[in-house]
Amino acid sequence: MVRTIFVTGANQGLGMHTVHQLGATPDIIVFMGSRKIASAEEALAKFAAEIHSSSTVVPVQLDLTDVASIKAAHAFVTDFLQKKGISSLDVLVNNAAIVGKGFEDTFATNVFGTVAVTEAFRPLLSKGGSILNISSGLDSLSLTNKDTPLVPAYASSKSALNMLTVQWSLEEEKKG
Ligand SMILES: NC(=O)c1ccc[n+]([C@@H]2O[C@H](COP(=O)([O-])OP(=O)(O)OC[C@H]3O[C@@H](n4cnc5c(N)ncnc54)[C@H](OP(=O)(O)O)[C@@H]3O)[C@@H](O)[C@H]2O)c1
Repeated sequence: MVRTIFVTGANQGLGMHTVHQLGATPDIIVFMGSRKIASAEEALAKFAAEIHSSSTVVPVQLDLTDVASIKAAHAFVTDFLQKKGISSLDVLVNNAAIVGKGFEDTFATNVFGTVAVTEAFRPLLSKGGSILNISSGLDSLSLTNKDTPLVPAYASSKSALNMLTVQWSLEEEKKG
């Protein structure tokens, strides 16, 4: 059975590494979210030779802060899966994030953008599907101490994401 996964912010860094590793395993369709489609294609070219013959990596334009982009990405993924006779997505990996200049841009991407993408894609997730929110050690209320680097906007945005993870999982539990 083919497993289907969407990774946001996957044209570089850990997101790209995740797509690379997943694509190298059998029977996977990985959607590689990227603000600029050319960046995803450029990144994909670096490891395309290592993609498993039964798997596919599909670059998708997605900017978390752009409602039209989220809508278009959702429509593209739905259509792509339907054409393959697949009705749902198994995993959404909310990886895209920034260490912004301040609170507004940081929260716009890491929190509001992640919420917008999750709300758009959640109905497409399969029963038993998963949402992975990529957190950070810097968000921890209990681990933070005087040796922790000072990045208030980034750290608090990731703490907010942690609470969203808890709230969303409680919502799913309630729905059974
Ligand atoms: N690296 C670490 O040490 C570390 C530690 C703990 C947690 N994390 C978390 O791990 C994840 C990946 O980190 P990383 O180090 O790999 O970061 P990275 O190399 O800076 O990559 C971040 C990705 O997010 C994308 N992105 C930024 N804003 C976006 C937006 N508005 N819409 C769509 N995509 C957007 C970037 O796209 P562009 O290329 O277009 O900018 C890029 O592809 C993040 O959630 C980060 O908080 C990282």
